[in-house]
Amino acid sequence: MNKNGKALVVFFSHAGDNYSVGNIKVGNTKIVADYITELAGADQFEIVTHKYDGMAYQPLCDLAKEEQRKGELPPYEGSVDVSKYDTVFIGGPVWWGTYPQVMFTFFSKVDLNGKTVIPFTTHEGSGLGQCVRDVRKAYPKANVTGQFSIYGHDVRDGKARVEKWLKTLGY
Ligand SMILES: Cc1cc2nc3c(=O)[nH]c(=O)nc-3n(C[C@H](O)[C@H](O)[C@H](O)COP(=O)(O)O)c2cc1C
Repeated sequence: MNKNGKALVVFFSHAGDNYSVGNIKVGNTKIVADYITELAGADQFEIVTHKYDGMAYQPLCDLAKEEQRKGELPPYEGSVDVSKYDTVFIGGPVWWGTYPQVMFTFFSKVDLNGKTVIPFTTHEGSGLGQCVRDVRKAYPKANVTGQFSIYGHDVRDGKARVEKWLKTLGY
């Protein structure tokens, strides 16, 4: 694990109407990403799209499933220079068993091969789902390791668990 330089936390998170936690102002994964950023002293890049703004849970589920079926790569805002980071945390909600398609847009644009990549998810039962496999597939030459998952409805009381996990990684 790289302890000399800063790590980068890359994440996507959907605020608004959500499963189990109701209509939330801050997404579950963002809360975890913020814990990591603070506890590991990391930098942060949020994958932002406005495609899903204001959508109710069920229509969002239908849209997400369709995007996944078609392998769509929705655009996101901004960009990040990853060259100075040896370690990149990658986090998002599990949508239909893996990360949301917009994260695959990031994977297609940003090369993390050669780096240590640490996947994390928030979910409501799938755990890590296929996320680790899909990150490995996107970056066959990355060291994909140290993964972590937590229920979305547990994140608000979950800081100690995140801290415990980060300690196992040497942070
Ligand atoms: C479109 C959609 C699909 C989802 N699919 C799954 C799933 O396959 N497995 C699962 O455990 N949870 C699923 N969930 C629940 C989310 O993973 C969970 O609520 C997560 O914490 C949301 O994180 P966020 O607030 O950062 O977006 C889904 C939620 C949405 C909105």
